[in-house]
Amino acid sequence: MRRLVPVSELRVTDRYRMTSSAAPATKLPPELVSDWQALESRWIDGPLSEWRALLPEQFNTGLSPARYGDLPRWREAIANLPPLPTAGIQLNAARVGISGSVPTETLDTLHTALMGLHPWRKGPFELCGLHVDTEWRSDWKWERLAGAIAPLRGRRVLDVGCGNGYHCWRMLGGGAAEVIGVDPTPLFVLQFKALQHYLRQQCIHVLPVTLEAIPAHLPVFDTVFSMGVLYHRRNPMEHLVSLRNKLAPGGQLVLETLVIEGDENALLEPNGRYARMGNVWQLPSPGLAARWLAQAGFSRVEIIDVGQTSLEEQRRTPWMTFHSLAQFLDPDNPGLTIEGLPAPRRAILTAELLP
Ligand SMILES: C[S@@+](CC[C@H](N)C(=O)[O-])C[C@H]1O[C@@H](n2cnc3c(N)ncnc32)[C@H](O)[C@@H]1O
Repeated sequence: MRRLVPVSELRVTDRYRMTSSAAPATKLPPELVSDWQALESRWIDGPLSEWRALLPEQFNTGLSPARYGDLPRWREAIANLPPLPTAGIQLNAARVGISGSVPTETLDTLHTALMGLHPWRKGPFELCGLHVDTEWRSDWKWERLAGAIAPLRGRRVLDVGCGNGYHCWRMLGGGAAEVIGVDPTPLFVLQFKALQHYLRQQCIHVLPVTLEAIPAHLPVFDTVFSMGVLYHRRNPMEHLVSLRNKLAPGGQLVLETLVIEGDENALLEPNGRYARMGNVWQLPSPGLAARWLAQAGFSRVEIIDVGQTSLEEQRRTPWMTFHSLAQFLDPDNPGLTIEGLPAPRRAILTAELLP
């Protein structure tokens, strides 16, 4: 049970507690204390205050040691990150990170600590010459969309299913005023924290929260991204309506999803595994995805990119040593998945909420 405590009762030496009279007297996961401190004052008024009130409990559930037995190991990895010079911060480069160089021993320590957070799926990153060559060339997706979306300068952005926040950094680099990424996978939140340990940017947060846990009606974001999430949802229309309800009037949705070829009625329901993933429910054609967006209440729907995922874009690397796309495709026919379904093909669509 929570109780409110007066500021005088709070000890500044207790890093797990918060320093505001409005804060709940519960412990927070240590890596999310700084997020709470920033958001509790930034979101104190207006519609975001409703979400703010839920954050402490969401943080505790999202990084609960009882639920996630690997947390102590990941925390140790972060504790072992060596000091680096942090002058040359790069948010606008394909390899997000910091330039500069450090002695080989420091790089070895950095490598070991970051490998404690394996597998690294989204990136790439580079820290003082150490290239974190992730499974995905997420920068390629960014290149495909960056010039086709409304400029992010000054916008409040929500990135739903942001993974370790690679694209969140690119959004901040694109001038967004505030970037909120949400992802329920705790390892990805800790990977974000490893980068934030060095990049130390205000106004960017990756929170261990699902889209469904955010207050349903929260029309405050100027741009909402949902990339790589739609096909994981059993009810795609519910997902789209939920995204719409996070957009401010005049705001833009950027939707990226697996698709199949075909006319605007074409839909694949894998009914089992798809490219070895067990939780893929519906793959529309780009035209059907556009129709879904219109049905969900969006206007100015545009398909800005469609293409097959290449073996260069998603592959096994020293930073992600498990199976990757090459192992998910039919060895005799790379046009098919191992289950005999059309190989992964992805589309990016934009849509707007009329003012
Ligand atoms: C395929 S990854 C996409 C990552 C990144 N957006 C990208 O495009 O590279 C999908 C991510 O969505 C997250 N996810 C799954 N269900 C979600 C939900 N209901 N709300 C928010 N994120 C979710 C997963 O944890 C995973 O990190």
